[in-house]
Amino acid sequence: MTDAIRRHDPLVKGFASDNYAGVHPEILQAIALANGGHQTAYGDDVYTAALQEVFRRHFGPAAQAWPMFNGTGANVVALRSMTAHWEAVVCAESAHIHTDEGGAPERSAGLKLLPVATPDGKLTPELIDRQAWGFGDEHRAQPKVVSITQTTELGTLYTPEEIGAICDHAHELGMVVHLDGARATNAAAALDVPLRAFTTDVGVDVLSFGGTKAGLMFGEAVVVLDPGAVRGLRYLRKSAMQLASKMRFVSVQFEALLAGDLWLRNARHANAMALRLADAVRDVPGVEIPRPVQANAVFAILPRDVTERLQKRFRFYTWNEATGEVRWMTAFDTTEADVDAFAAAVAQEMHSPA
Ligand SMILES: Cc1ncc(COP(=O)(O)O)c(C=O)c1O
Repeated sequence: MTDAIRRHDPLVKGFASDNYAGVHPEILQAIALANGGHQTAYGDDVYTAALQEVFRRHFGPAAQAWPMFNGTGANVVALRSMTAHWEAVVCAESAHIHTDEGGAPERSAGLKLLPVATPDGKLTPELIDRQAWGFGDEHRAQPKVVSITQTTELGTLYTPEEIGAICDHAHELGMVVHLDGARATNAAAALDVPLRAFTTDVGVDVLSFGGTKAGLMFGEAVVVLDPGAVRGLRYLRKSAMQLASKMRFVSVQFEALLAGDLWLRNARHANAMALRLADAVRDVPGVEIPRPVQANAVFAILPRDVTERLQKRFRFYTWNEATGEVRWMTAFDTTEADVDAFAAAVAQEMHSPA
């Protein structure tokens, strides 16, 4: 037995992020199953081989899955494989690649990002055109990739038709489409469609598919849907330090998530908990829910002193210091009791004298 000591209370949960959650028990079981004995390192193992078929079942016969350690790495490798040195990526100003990756696309991939302001985190063909210009002009980094996020960083959701329109427009311009799907499972659950309905079927070329927020210990996968859209992924993954030597343990987690319906159960549950939370606090006087709750994120505007008192009791982030907007995320392991306790605390703190 291990001498390790449990150093946290597993019953304490917050609303800071879906990656504050632990690992789904079925994923832990799968890791244990893949343990023991020796397997070839660096992805030449039986679990990674089997995973290809699992991804093909979800994304169609051309799909190729490239397991990686994390989402930032997956995005950087995907975008690097889709661009030549003189090309650029059009994205929403709120995109994770632009705001939350420490400049990794610029620093480690040398990418030029062309951000566009959006009201709700979503690009449209019209918004893309604000940056997709100057083709053939040697003075301008050449727009090559449109990168969208599903669900967006603002908790909003693209319909398959909206993504289809973006893909058609990008392709007409000679561009390709990357989808940051850190929360793709939440999107599919919310839309009640298969994962391919807003990716393969509508023309997305490359996807960063999120596992961590869906219940894995760690692991994301770049899923290539159009092999003609990428170059050198095999080499770029290694040089970006995203090639896991014990890859079987990443792959088996994805197999456990995707072979059955675990991905859907987890995502549906997380989404339902967000709705429950929004419904519970929406009518509390003084609480504003400024954005639609479309998956597993709830944004709220609260008085600052209330936020400060609540944050002493529950973990969550202030999204916008200027407006007092906060973000509450739910995860596969958020329970109804967690939500109800938090909603009660919101109501109680709103009614407390400052
Ligand atoms: C939209 C989005 N993309 C990518 C990531 C991947 O991040 P990480 O590098 O932390 O795995 C995240 C995580 O917060 C995210 O929200």
